[in-house]
Amino acid sequence: MAGMSPLHERLEHLSFLVGTWRGLGVVGYPTIEEQRYEQEVVFAHDGRPFLSYESRAWILDDDGNRAKPSARETGFWRPGKEPRDVEVMLAHPTGIVEVYVGEVVFHKIELRSDVVARTETAKSVTAFHRLYGLVEGDLAYAIDMAAVDQPLQPHLSARLRKVG
Ligand code: HEM
Repeated sequence: MAGMSPLHERLEHLSFLVGTWRGLGVVGYPTIEEQRYEQEVVFAHDGRPFLSYESRAWILDDDGNRAKPSARETGFWRPGKEPRDVEVMLAHPTGIVEVYVGEVVFHKIELRSDVVARTETAKSVTAFHRLYGLVEGDLAYAIDMAAVDQPLQPHLSARLRKVG
């Protein structure tokens, strides 16, 4: 878990991510109905030069209660070639695997999908763009997706508070 070993020096630029984050987001796309979700994200490390990443989300009902489990994603965030670079690999239970390349500028991270691979039965997702940033100590992000014959455009945005 985070805190047990010192953070690897090559993760300095990603250090602000480490911890458990929880908050609310909105999901939309031209093909679906807009909905609100709750999300929990955990970035952790064991002293080696990568962060483990796990995200779970729940669609909320009108009263803000968890109505059903939604998207999950899990993977690793690695330092890239240059000191500011980051490489991210994510796996989804929907048969999709993504590889991202990105850059960290202070407390802002921009990721672009380099490779999106899909199983035979997965939906046709072809590209992602992710923007993460610290906003008043919260982790805020916006994620654009190109999928099901639609051009790259917003699918997700959320603001998460650090809870641990
Ligand atoms: C917090 C994360 C996410 C949440 C809460 C979320 C939520 C949703 C919801 C509610 C829908 C409407 C259909 C349904 O109920 O399944 C949907 C559709 C979809 N999502 Fe997400 N999603 C998330 C992340 C992702 C990610 C990471 C991907 C790709 C790897 C993705 C790809 C899609 C696709 C392809 C559709 C179907 C669009 C269509 O068929 O019209 N989503 N998402």
